[in-house]
Amino acid sequence: MAYICFNNHENSHSAHTMLSKKIEAALNGQVAVEAASSQAYLAMASWAENQGLSGTATFLYKHSDEERMHMLKLVKFINERGGKAVIPALKQPGTNFKSITDIFQALLHHETKVTQEINGVVDTCLKEKDYTTHNFMQWYVGEQIEEEALARTLIDKLNLIGSDKGGLYLFDRDLQGMSVATGGGYNRGA
Ligand SMILES: [Fe+2]
Ligand SMILES: [Fe+2]
Repeated sequence: MAYICFNNHENSHSAHTMLSKKIEAALNGQVAVEAASSQAYLAMASWAENQGLSGTATFLYKHSDEERMHMLKLVKFINERGGKAVIPALKQPGTNFKSITDIFQALLHHETKVTQEINGVVDTCLKEKDYTTHNFMQWYVGEQIEEEALARTLIDKLNLIGSDKGGLYLFDRDLQGMSVATGGGYNRGA
């Protein structure tokens, strides 16, 4: 029957330009994760700004923008591949931070969870034999390595500084020109 043939074709992996429903759902899940990351770091940036930590605030505002860019990259990929990107509602992120160390520990914890989500999407790509999306997702895999490494470095520095006010001043000043790079290490500003 021609009708069944059509359905089989639609579900087959040979129609590689179209996203399968499973992949579309997985990517839209990641859209929501990146949007939540952007919102979480925006709340952290605002907290740091109110504490007078202007370098940390600049770093976190930039980080929030980068997460929004991660979200946009997914939205465009989904739509280009014939899917429909879903723009999610935003939940209010955590805003009660005890200290700057608390912020970066929360950031690392958040990124660790994001990495697990990304690994889940990659796993779905392999199960669905969607190698195009698998290739696209590798950028996110690399990005997570950079972000987790940077968060760990910053936590180590904060642990060294402890309650030393001068050390904290320098830490904050250093963060002013630092950003999570999109694709290699972190960049120091001029
Ligand atoms: Fe991200
Ligand atoms: Fe991130």
